[in-house]
Amino acid sequence: MFLVDAPVTGRREVARGMFIVGMHAPEIAAIVRAGQFVNLAWPRGPLLRRPFSVYRAEGETIEVVLKAVGVGTAQLLGLRPGDRVSCLGPLGHGFDLSGPHAILVSGGLGVAPMPLAARDAHAAGMKVTWVHGARTAAELCTEAEGEVVVWATDDGSRGFHGTAVAAAPTSGAIVVCGPNRMLAAAAERWPDAQVAVETYMGCGTGVCLGCAVPLRAGGYDRACKEGPVYRAADIDWTVLPAHLPYGVGA
Ligand SMILES: Cc1cc2nc3c(=O)[nH]c(=O)nc-3n(C[C@H](O)[C@H](O)[C@H](O)COP(=O)(O)OP(=O)(O)OC[C@H]3O[C@@H](n4cnc5c(N)ncnc54)[C@H](O)[C@@H]3O)c2cc1C
Ligand code: FES
Repeated sequence: MFLVDAPVTGRREVARGMFIVGMHAPEIAAIVRAGQFVNLAWPRGPLLRRPFSVYRAEGETIEVVLKAVGVGTAQLLGLRPGDRVSCLGPLGHGFDLSGPHAILVSGGLGVAPMPLAARDAHAAGMKVTWVHGARTAAELCTEAEGEVVVWATDDGSRGFHGTAVAAAPTSGAIVVCGPNRMLAAAAERWPDAQVAVETYMGCGTGVCLGCAVPLRAGGYDRACKEGPVYRAADIDWTVLPAHLPYGVGA
């Protein structure tokens, strides 16, 4: 884990209201794996850091994807190239990508860990099938073009008319990210799927217990330490909040 004073390298829009922000963080870029995240702070930002999955890591730069859902995300999107972000990471346990075939299933902002998941799966010699969904075509991440095999929209404006979970094939190593209600649906269909969950977070390093994930076996895990990737059937979906902003746009 590194704490990097990272200059912002740029910003681009990849779907309606959805942006990629790049940061120069070579130590993190060199070792981050799919499903891991960074906890970010910036001058005059919120008291608590804000967690974001690493979207891409190329050369010495990492990227995150976000929408403005509150104070912190709006401020982050207002930063300019050269502005500094305190970047703590990589944090958490990522996806275990092994076997002949990876099925990546993302909804809305759940696109976040998938470019790295595709990278790591290809590196492991896996065939990759990526299913990406959103409410409507304008909210699909355009950068998935070329990598996504199946598109899905709730309103039928592009690809499969329905959810990404319903559109996905059934066999393979299934990796899912999106709003918690989507992950709960995935757990019904694929109990053994790996899901990246969203919780509230504080420290991001296992100390504050602010990221409790309710387990079906009883008790809680820390999403920042034991997660954020879990076996779908291991989570008590009746307790985990269903509407956190990571899922906005899904
Ligand atoms: C491991 C992990 C990875 C994430 N990756 C991404 C990502 O790649 N892209 C992305 O857009 N979002 C991601 N999120 C969610 C993102 O961290 C929150 O949307 C963000 O912290 C909200 O900050 P805010 O200041 O804009 O919101 P606030 O103004 O604080 O609040 C707006 C809304 O966000 C909720 N919220 C506040 N803090 C958090 C938090 N830490 N986690 C969840 N909800 C919160 C509040 O309850 C409220 O509903 C991730 C969350 C986790 C736990
Ligand atoms: S965010 Fe503090 S223990 Fe997980």
